Amino acid sequence: MTAMDGNWSPMSWKQHVALQQVVYDDDDAVREAVQRLRMFPPLVTSWGIERLKVLMAEAAEGRRFFLQGGACAEMLSDCRPDIITNKLKILLQMSLVITHGLKKPVIRVGRLAGQYAKPRSCDTETIGDVTLPSYRGDLINRCEFTAQARRPDPHRMIDAYQHAALTLNFIRSLTETGFADLHHPEYWDLAFLKKDHVAQEVREKYEAMATELSEALRFMEALGDRSVEDLSRVDFYCSHEALNLLYESAQTRTVPRRAAYYDLTTHMPWIGDRTRDPNGAHVEFMRGISNPIGIKVGPSIKPSELRELLDILDPDSVPGRITLITRFGADRVEDCLPKLIDVVRSTEHKVVWVCDPMHGNTTQTSTGQKTRNFNEILRELDTCINVHKAKYGYLCGVHFELTGEHVTECIGGASGVSECDLDLQYTTKCDPRLNWEQALEMAFLIAERLGSTPLRNGTL
Ligand code: PEP
Ligand code: CO
Repeated sequence: MTAMDGNWSPMSWKQHVALQQVVYDDDDAVREAVQRLRMFPPLVTSWGIERLKVLMAEAAEGRRFFLQGGACAEMLSDCRPDIITNKLKILLQMSLVITHGLKKPVIRVGRLAGQYAKPRSCDTETIGDVTLPSYRGDLINRCEFTAQARRPDPHRMIDAYQHAALTLNFIRSLTETGFADLHHPEYWDLAFLKKDHVAQEVREKYEAMATELSEALRFMEALGDRSVEDLSRVDFYCSHEALNLLYESAQTRTVPRRAAYYDLTTHMPWIGDRTRDPNGAHVEFMRGISNPIGIKVGPSIKPSELRELLDILDPDSVPGRITLITRFGADRVEDCLPKLIDVVRSTEHKVVWVCDPMHGNTTQTSTGQKTRNFNEILRELDTCINVHKAKYGYLCGVHFELTGEHVTECIGGASGVSECDLDLQYTTKCDPRLNWEQALEMAFLIAERLGSTPLRNGTL
């Protein structure tokens, strides 16, 4: 690994320009927080990370499908049993639907247990004649619009770490014992499909998919197949944007008998679209760690810049080392994606191509509320699938901002959230998320589009 090249250390990023970093006003408190973080046991192990690397190499080859989802800005107050259970449940349900439709295993990765730091387009926020620092996620400051809440507090790194540990502890106990009811889609609350405004053919299509899935699972159970057991003891991985480099580097270390550094705050850190400058601190930090790495790729990237990033971050061309999470906006995919596919193909790098159809499709309502339209999200996904296919490749995975709750943040889908519903349950502190009905519907649509077997009733 490059980590061993002598120029890299967990702190070498300090010699580079770090965008989106906060300025804490108490150096002693920062030192103390970082020192405490260094002493804590890790949140994940190198074994888990190495296992995910094997799976990601298979995803790059199209042998597994990658599903990543969770909140835009996870909050410390999300560390509650119901919220964690619901989030895990929707991700597992989506993965079952996709596994069944695509006939290939799904790698499940939550945006959670650390998705607490947010890049912002503006350093400050002004309401009336008051200007305060922007909210940068619960790892940094608090969302309330007061000077005290918005002051970056280094101790929040410790709080965030501890909440991430509690979240992971609960997720591990759930995934070890299994959610039995997940095996029976008839127990899933699909009532939203029965609403009057849902077209009959759509309803029939989803019901047919759900029935087929139940039958397949029951058949496996009847056979006493081990794989049902496997379905209840699921592998689950975590990920977050590695934005606050003090937090990430404090838990970056070597482990016994492995000659490599790992960021042990998460299995899969990613670099945001705003911090992927090849000469910047985030890229410098990420090049030295052995985790599989995500890079968010928006319309502003140039093919030459992508090539440079890949050469820096994946010098040994390890299949699956890099996941490119593209997020162009439905209208920009055809313009942006083909040239990036071409440039990657002209190198030795074997990346995992993932579509994030959320971040390029954020709009504002007339009252200034941020939202996203289900159909536009689907359109970006469709266009991505088609572009990959036209280039003789394939989409390896998807990335969503979603929640297991009944929020009303994105418009559309069979559950019928309209613009005037947005105020009913709008709880995100950052970007709008699919609610669980919209997320499940999206999984059905992914299965439909990428699935290899047509449905029995021939509706597809
Ligand atoms: C995000 O994933 O919440 C985000 C900020 O994405 P991007 O870096 O793609 O803008
Ligand atoms: Co977001």
